[in-house]
Order: sequence, then C-alpha cells, then structure tokens
Amino acid sequence: MQNSTGLFISFEGIDGAGKSTHIEAVAQAFEAQGRSVTRTREPGGTPLAETLRQLVLNDPMDALTESLLVFAARRDHIQRVIAPALAQGRVVLCDRFTDATFAYQGAGRGFDLGVLQTLEQWVQSSGDKASALLQPQLTIWFDLPPTVAAARLVEARVPDKFESQPLAFFETVAGGYAARFVREPQRFARINANQSLHAVREDVMAALAAKAFLVGAPGA
Ligand code: TYD
Repeated sequence: MQNSTGLFISFEGIDGAGKSTHIEAVAQAFEAQGRSVTRTREPGGTPLAETLRQLVLNDPMDALTESLLVFAARRDHIQRVIAPALAQGRVVLCDRFTDATFAYQGAGRGFDLGVLQTLEQWVQSSGDKASALLQPQLTIWFDLPPTVAAARLVEARVPDKFESQPLAFFETVAGGYAARFVREPQRFARINANQSLHAVREDVMAALAAKAFLVGAPGA
C-alpha cells in the first residue's frame, strides 16, 4: 500500500488550532497548479467511517473501543478513498490522520502506544510485516498553546465529546503531537498557529514550497 504518483498531506493540531480555513486555501493552491485534489477528513471520509465518527465523537466508550473504531474508520477510508485517489495521482488533503490517534487516544486518554502501533501496522499496510506503512508525505501541524485554543473554542459551536474536555486533556494531547514530531521531524511542518490568519497561511504555503510540492507558492 505505497503511495504512487499522488501526494498525501495530513493536517493536525488540537481542537481550536484552526486547520479548516487553511486546508481550503491549500486545496485552492494545488488546483490553481492544475492538480486534482481530494479533500477528506478523519474519522470519516466514507459513509461507514462517517457513521463511526458520530459514535466516536458523541458516545462515551473506553479508550480501546475508541481506538478500534477510529482505526476501523481509517481502514475503510484508506481502501475506498485515499489509496485509489493516490493511485490516480491526486493530491489527498486529509483533516487529521493517525497522529491524531496517538495524540488523542494515546496521550490524551492514556491508551497503550504499543497497541496503537500494532493497529497502525495492520491498518496502514497490506498486512504482512515487511510492507511499508501508508503515511502522509507531509503533516502540517498547527501548533498552538492549549490555553489559546480553549479561548477560541469558547466562541465556537456546540462542543463534541473531545472539545468539551478540560484544559489538562488538551495539554496532554498537545504533548502527544510534540512526541510524534520528535519521532519523525522530517515528515512534519510545524506551524506556529498563534499568529494572524494571514501569517499562518503564509507559513503553510512556505512549508509546501520548501518540499517543492507547490511551485512559487501563492502564499500571500
Ligand atoms: P475535528 O477534526 O476537530 O473536526 P471539527 O472541526 O468538525 O470539530 O474533530 C475530530 C475530533 O476527533 C477531534 O476532537 C479529534 C478526534 N480524533 C480522535 O480522537 N482520534 C482520531 O484518530 C482522530 C482522527 C480524531
């Protein structure tokens, strides 16, 4: 299950970090360069995975159940949407991927990271241990102090199960993202999300240009 000609980019950060607006701008930038873009999200992206999303975001459950559901959703999403899109040479922009599981279920809920790694191997490869993991070529991480994110969320819509967690939960989740970044710094672009929308957007476009994914990035 290796990437072929397509480009797989994920977007991560704690709730309130402001990913959505920037994903739209990135999609437009790729389309302006003649690329076909698939915009999708996790948990979700297929009818089955969207159903699982509703359960994960709204129903109380233990951390193992939650982890199994997000990985089940991911498997369906990869098989039906991500892998076919990459095989067609499309740019896949995914609002969250497996780093979110390590950050939310692993760090946030304190679930066993070894089990998550096993699930990751099962779900993101062809099954045998020798096959490569499907991973984003780039993960844009919107890094924001949890106190700032919490203030932004207060003004947002009705909170879901995660968004209504206390600040301490997001401190831990933020630590989970930082740990993923330290493990694989070359895959991540760490964006300071505690700036104006315009400045954050410029940094996102610069990160894409630095990887030569966008040529002459229309950042401003
Ligand atoms: P989010 O991506 O922030 O969507 P919206 O902008 O519509 O609120 O919400 C998804 C939530 O799901 C977020 O709180 C993180 C959580 N999540 C997990 O706990 N584990 C996962 O593996 C993924 C992908 C998301």
